[in-house]
Amino acid sequence: METPSSHIVVRTPVIDAIGELYAAHGLARKCVLLFDGNTRRLFGDRILESLQRQGFQTRELVVPARETSKSLPSAWKLYGAMIEADVDRSWNLLCVGGGVVGDLGGYIAASYYRGIPVVQLPTTLLAMTDSSIGGKVAINHPLGKNLIGFFHLPELVLIDPSFLRSLPSREIYGGMAEVVKYGFISDRSFFDFLNEHFDEVVGLREPYLTEAVSRSAFTKAEVVEKDFRETTGLRATLNFGHTFAHGLEKLAEYRNLRHGEAVTIGMVCALFLSKRLGFLPEPELAEGLGLMRRFRFPGGVVDRRFLAHGSDAIFESMFSDKKKIDRKLRFVLLDRIGHAFLHGEDVKNAEVTGAIDDARAWFSNRK
Ligand SMILES: NC(=O)c1ccc[n+]([C@@H]2O[C@H](COP(=O)([O-])OP(=O)(O)OC[C@H]3O[C@@H](n4cnc5c(N)ncnc54)[C@H](O)[C@@H]3O)[C@@H](O)[C@H]2O)c1
Ligand SMILES: [Zn+2]
Repeated sequence: METPSSHIVVRTPVIDAIGELYAAHGLARKCVLLFDGNTRRLFGDRILESLQRQGFQTRELVVPARETSKSLPSAWKLYGAMIEADVDRSWNLLCVGGGVVGDLGGYIAASYYRGIPVVQLPTTLLAMTDSSIGGKVAINHPLGKNLIGFFHLPELVLIDPSFLRSLPSREIYGGMAEVVKYGFISDRSFFDFLNEHFDEVVGLREPYLTEAVSRSAFTKAEVVEKDFRETTGLRATLNFGHTFAHGLEKLAEYRNLRHGEAVTIGMVCALFLSKRLGFLPEPELAEGLGLMRRFRFPGGVVDRRFLAHGSDAIFESMFSDKKKIDRKLRFVLLDRIGHAFLHGEDVKNAEVTGAIDDARAWFSNRK
């Protein structure tokens, strides 16, 4: 069976093997490359030269490096450019960039000519370990993020951790939140590995970096394989820390708070909630917090984007739809490090705000 994980290749330099990988996966050597301004500048020439050397026919598209590129107007423009360049269903789309390029490119590939193959070449830590895997592709609507999209699995995910060398440290820590998440939700030995080698991984030192990236990518693929359409609750565990994170991101109006930073704070809240509700034993909480202590934020981000808000305001912001009468929040909790579950029952509001307050106290003391 073709599975998401059989499509993931982790290798340096991956681009020089792309011809052979395309052949092995039955893909035509005709690809539209989608970059953002940064990935075009940093990697474009090298990738295009390598593809041309390997006998590829190529077309190139570039979008501005910002979240607003994940929009219908921008997709519409790209459809036009592809039609004008005579791109038909025999072509495929290669996304070179972070989650923005991957989601936008995936969305376009899922819809153009009723669907063409998409290949992901992620260049951020978040994209290598999370967004490029699992086939969720989307654009944003003015009324909400990621609301318009498809499930469209990539034919190939080509991961080359050496692309991370130019990534700013803030983005590394952001991606590291998702990496650590996999240790918490499904793999105690990975958690131990990260505890031991956190500094090497964020310092992009090999072989730790490649090990952390591959284990994360394959963990995500495995979870997705078992619960592709999010029906059993397993895929939902990938949202550990995210119920809190979404509240913080919304309060910040998505400005000056990276998703991974919100997830880092959200995971601390979720650890405290797991403890409060009697699932996570005290020593495991302490161990979990020990790893969370290693995360670094740019000056003022935690103060302005978390500590400045009361727990009630954060709680309120965690509901995605303010108008719903029957409002319910779903939480992913841990009963031990390495095992998460989707908590089915209602959680008392006071427990949720209590967990936020615990996290606020913890962040205040850690300074
Ligand atoms: N589809 C999914 O399952 C999924 C999961 C998580 C997040 N997402 C989406 O991913 C997006 C966030 O992705 P992201 O964090 O990768 O952000 P991003 O794509 O905006 O990239 C962050 C910044 O890094 C730059 N960049 C990329 N690679 C670089 C490199 N190697 N060196 C230097 N700079 C580089 C980009 O140009 C950009 O400025 C959001 O839109 C989010 O909704 C999707
Ligand atoms: Zn996330």
